[in-house]
Amino acid sequence: MEFQEVIKKRVGIRSFTDQQISEEDICAIVKDAQRSPSWANAQATKVYVAVGETLKKIKAEHFERVGKAEKGNSDIPTAPRQTWGEKSLQNQDQLMKDWGTFFSGDLKPFITSQKVLYNASAMIYLTVPRTAPQWALIDLGAFGQTLMLAAQDRGIGSTPAHEIVKFPDEVRKYVGIPDDEIVAMGIALGYPTDEKINQFVSQRMPVEDVLTLKK
Ligand SMILES: Cc1cc2nc3c(=O)[nH]c(=O)nc-3n(C[C@H](O)[C@H](O)[C@H](O)COP(=O)(O)O)c2cc1C
Repeated sequence: MEFQEVIKKRVGIRSFTDQQISEEDICAIVKDAQRSPSWANAQATKVYVAVGETLKKIKAEHFERVGKAEKGNSDIPTAPRQTWGEKSLQNQDQLMKDWGTFFSGDLKPFITSQKVLYNASAMIYLTVPRTAPQWALIDLGAFGQTLMLAAQDRGIGSTPAHEIVKFPDEVRKYVGIPDDEIVAMGIALGYPTDEKINQFVSQRMPVEDVLTLKK
């Protein structure tokens, strides 16, 4: 795929088919992501992938806990929306409005997609050591984006989601992630369905609103 096309086609996919991703593809995608930069080439990001029976168990427990309205307890705590700054707060509100319009006010498909973890065929968990400096999370973010673009290049959709890591004990139990690593980022992977939810395209601010070019 042309690089520009990969960038444009990468959008959050929240409904996947039952088609499995081959181990070769998973391995190749992670290998591509390993080309991302990191502080002094520290390469602190670790990748855990749940598929098959393991993922089935995670999905079942997740469904049950969300059904009981259990509060998430992610390793990276969520923060009050106000702390993101005024403009980001407006953008977040706009996203909710846009979802509402897209689904004509009925957000059930969106809520269900979270509950069933998007029916992902592979779930990626990115971790860094608990003791690592904040810089390691910058590296991890770059790793995650490269991973999603590498997946897109192979026709595999993705979505990063807090939903995936909001019960880290559930993930640790089934995937075997040690306590001294932060379960920082979850990325769902799979082949997109034709469902309406996958047609949603989020807005971006005009580039002038984020770019300062000083001559
Ligand atoms: C750290 C992070 C957490 C996110 N958490 C969720 C989530 O819990 N549920 C969800 O549906 N999308 C989640 N998203 C996806 C964002 O809503 C999405 O990336 C954003 O609206 C831009 O849309 P796009 O990815 O389609 O371009 C998350 C994205 C990031 C980077």
